[in-house]
Formats: sequence, structure tokens, C-alpha cells
Amino acid sequence: ALISLRQLLDHAAEHAYGVPAFNVNNLEQMRAIMEAADRTDSPVIVQASAGARKYAGAPFLRHLIQAAVEEFPHIPVVMHQDHGTSPGVCQRSIQLGFSSVMMDGSLKEDGKTPADYAYNVDVTRRAVEMAHACGVSVEGELGCLGSLETGQAGEEDGVGAEGTLDHSQLLTDPEEAAQFVAATQVDALAIAIGTSHGAYKFTRPPTGDILSIQRIKEIHDRIPDTHLVMHGSSSVPQEWLETINAHGGEIPETYGVPVEEIVEGIKHGVRKVNIDTDLRLASTGAVRRFLAENPSEFDPRKFLKESVTAMRDVCIARFEAFGTAGQA
Ligand code: G3H
Ligand code: 13P
Ligand code: NA
Ligand code: ZN
Repeated sequence: ALISLRQLLDHAAEHAYGVPAFNVNNLEQMRAIMEAADRTDSPVIVQASAGARKYAGAPFLRHLIQAAVEEFPHIPVVMHQDHGTSPGVCQRSIQLGFSSVMMDGSLKEDGKTPADYAYNVDVTRRAVEMAHACGVSVEGELGCLGSLETGQAGEEDGVGAEGTLDHSQLLTDPEEAAQFVAATQVDALAIAIGTSHGAYKFTRPPTGDILSIQRIKEIHDRIPDTHLVMHGSSSVPQEWLETINAHGGEIPETYGVPVEEIVEGIKHGVRKVNIDTDLRLASTGAVRRFLAENPSEFDPRKFLKESVTAMRDVCIARFEAFGTAGQA
């Protein structure tokens, strides 16, 4: 059944688990997520970005998610809009049937320019008023996602600030977080703790000086009743990088957020964990390997089946590690 983010994360908080929120753009991702949820008895958050709507088209995306609800009626599904850039974008998603929206007012409407606190409060409060009137949940964001190591937001062409961010923007301030939640009434808050979107998060395995799990604890101590969200939470599996590079790929050395660090975050109030890149890497690795090993195959179902299996196994691993398994 389709449920709201609030319903799911209240349950997650009560039972001390976290929920991966996987980005979805196509049928194969949707099938991989649902097969993993079905096998592990996990509730699901699927999220669609502006890029996903552009790629698949809003009606296809909507029906893809609703098809999942229909095929797996026993699995709770949150249909979430990722990184909405204005209250108007959120309104259109609500009209499309999303049960949850993110109003990312940490950036201006262009999705690139860091916005000030007053702007963020204004757009987020407006989105909350509209969404809550429709029974839809809202995730806000305070602080700018970006690497504490490089000061870069990460993603070149997608969501994220342009240019180099200063250090104070890269870690959400606990006091400001408390004010923000009181002023906006958001259901969940995305916080900046040193992660960034995309595959190029860290040039070495991250330690406390470039990934601040400590900051999660400080924010959670200040606002224990607010569900915290970690964006940029792909772990960038080294085995998938090796598979890609062994079959014609050229991805330079890079590291993501270790699963153990996310599990530590979940102990301190993180309830929603955004993952996109890991499924992209698994899919690409599986397809590259299949086509390299089966050069005469040309039926897309053959290599896309490999893509589904690879993504499904990543989803299963996250559901199990985050304690989502068994909670559906
Ligand atoms: O927030 C970023 C997600 O990974 C979505 O990426 O904008 O390329 O669809 P995208
Ligand atoms: P990754 O790029 O680390 O997968 O993060 C995805 C994300 O935060 C989507 O909002
Ligand atoms: Na989001
Ligand atoms: Zn994000």
C-alpha cells in the first residue's frame, strides 16, 4: 500500500531502524527494489528526481511506482519526490499522487545557488502548509551537501551547489536546525555532515575529519523527535568499481560512505538514507560484464536481467544492514 513518509519514519523511529530511499528512473530499478523488499519483508521509499521525470516522463514514473504498489500489495511504499526546488514543484508532485515531497530550500530555485536561512524557511513553510493539507509529508534540508574534504558539492550536472562551499555550510548547525524545524514543521530534515552526491565523495576511505557522524549525534540531541535524512549515502562498492574497470570502464579511485558509518548514524536518529549511485554502479558493472562475456548477445532483456539482479542484491544488503528487513 502507498503510505506517507511520516507514517513510515514514525514506525522506524519507534523500532530504531533506518530506511534506504532509492532513486528510481526505470523499470529495472523499480523491479530490483521491489524484489529486494519482497525477499526481505522491508518497507520501501522510492524517490523520483527532476532528472528522473525528464528521463522517463512524469506519467511513466507515476505508473511505474503505482504498478509496484499493485504487484506487491503487502509492501508499504512511500512515493517521494526528491529535491523539489520550489513549492510549485512540490504542488505538482502532490497532484501526481506522491505521498511525500522534499522541499530543498537550501538552494535557490535553480538548484545550484546556496540560499539564505530566511528563504529556506519561507519556501519550506509554504510547502509544508500545502502538503500537510493533503496528508503528504515534507522533507526539508538545512546546510549544503558537499564534501568536507574538497568543499565540492559533487554532482556536476544534477542536484547540488555550484563552486566551492565554505566549511560552515557543510555541517548543519544544531541550534539552527531546532529553529528551522520549529518554524517549518517539516516531518524530516536532511542534514549536511560531509557527504556529497555522486560517486566522487572522498579520495580516501573517510574518517571523522571528513565525515562527521558526531554532528548527527549533536543534531539528534537537540531535536530528538525529528527524523533525520542522510543524502549522498552511497557506499561506492569497490567490487563494482573493479568489475566496471575490468570490462572497459575507466572510473578513477574513489570512496563513498561506509555502510558501518550509516548504521552508526541510524543509532542516532537517521531514518532515511538516500542511495542512487550504488544502484547505478551495480547496473553498469553487471551490464558491462555480461556484454563482454557474451559478445554475440543482443536481446536487451538478457543484459537488463543482470542489471536487475545486481541492483536487487545491493538493495537486499542495505535493507539488512539498516534494520529495515522484517519491518514491512
Ligand atoms: O540527488 C541526486 C540524485 O542522485 C538524483 O540524481 O538528478 O541525476 O536524477 P539525478
Ligand atoms: P548518492 O549519489 O550518494 O547515491 O546520493 C543520492 C541522493 O542523495 C539522492 O537525493
Ligand atoms: Na530527498
Ligand atoms: Zn540528495
